[in-house]
Amino acid sequence: MTGHRVAVTGAFGYTGRALAEQLLAAGHEVVTLTRRRGVGDPLQARLIVHAIEGVAGNVLAASLEGVDTLFNTYWLRFPRGTETFEGVLANSAALLEAARTAGVRRIVHVSVINATLDAETPYVRAKAALEALVRSSGLEWVFVRPTLLYGPGDILINNLAWALRRLPIYGMPGRGRYTVQPVHVDDLARICIDAADGESGRVLDAAGPEILQYRELVNLIRTAVGSRSIVLPMPHEVVLAAARLLGLLVRDVVLTRDEIRELTASLLTSSEPPRGLFRISDWVRENADSLGRRWSGELARNYRNIR
Ligand SMILES: NC(=O)c1ccc[n+]([C@@H]2O[C@H](COP(=O)([O-])OP(=O)(O)OC[C@H]3O[C@@H](n4cnc5c(N)ncnc54)[C@H](OP(=O)(O)O)[C@@H]3O)[C@@H](O)[C@H]2O)c1
Repeated sequence: MTGHRVAVTGAFGYTGRALAEQLLAAGHEVVTLTRRRGVGDPLQARLIVHAIEGVAGNVLAASLEGVDTLFNTYWLRFPRGTETFEGVLANSAALLEAARTAGVRRIVHVSVINATLDAETPYVRAKAALEALVRSSGLEWVFVRPTLLYGPGDILINNLAWALRRLPIYGMPGRGRYTVQPVHVDDLARICIDAADGESGRVLDAAGPEILQYRELVNLIRTAVGSRSIVLPMPHEVVLAAARLLGLLVRDVVLTRDEIRELTASLLTSSEPPRGLFRISDWVRENADSLGRRWSGELARNYRNIR
């Protein structure tokens, strides 16, 4: 795929930004659909920026005029206030309809690893419901299903390092023997862009080359950042209560009950040969100086600073 007009939902966000940067570098014209205007963001001048929420279907379709591939990252990490999974599903349905009307050829849709309609958590069930909407959209589609994302400025790995740098005790859910297979955001973006070509109707896991037990991941980060924190296995409810207390301090939602369930069920692990190339153990060691120096805030990013 070279020199096309493409669209990315949320190009000022995390995965969306990595996607937009790789697409621009490959010579594409990039439209973004977003709640933001990109004020003060260096990417803004390089993108065509349109609204994603609160616009009529014909306006959304006009924003997608001439677009070959739509890369969709639009989603919620957790429901909050008026932001619900039902609302995001309805907005996604409108987006799919607009894409069909505009003649978009393909959607590369970022879903989540192990998405099934009978999953234990509402997040994963809602992601599976959106996959069903995409399948019946009339567009060519490919699903890319990431495990746990990391990279510069990520939230979960960075904030784990933040906690290990500062807290005397780090409460690990259970004994930490469940597995994770983190994938670097640049790997995810590359996998998505590759998925714009080739066969339609594929479901691709996006997972890194290393599978670690969670306690190994914690120890990897603990050693890399020179933490003296004592890592203690704790019941899930205690971890959740501690995360809520910490949340008051950092003005954020640190971890949700559903995220603990997904993590401890080893859900964030793929059974396919890995497509990611970056090794998290190398990346953590190489980025140890900056990792966890500052809190990465979900509420700051996606609720408070919408510019
Ligand atoms: N992070 C992970 O570890 C992980 C793991 C598995 C799957 N995924 C999936 O990967 C995709 C990208 O995730 P990401 O972590 O890179 O997310 P992100 O950038 O924080 O969010 C993706 C986009 O969704 C929109 N969004 C986020 N929160 C919103 C809110 N409260 N209300 C309305 N819109 C909101 C944002 O669009 P604007 O702000 O531009 O309007 C944002 O650019 C998502 O579909 C996610 O479900 C992520």
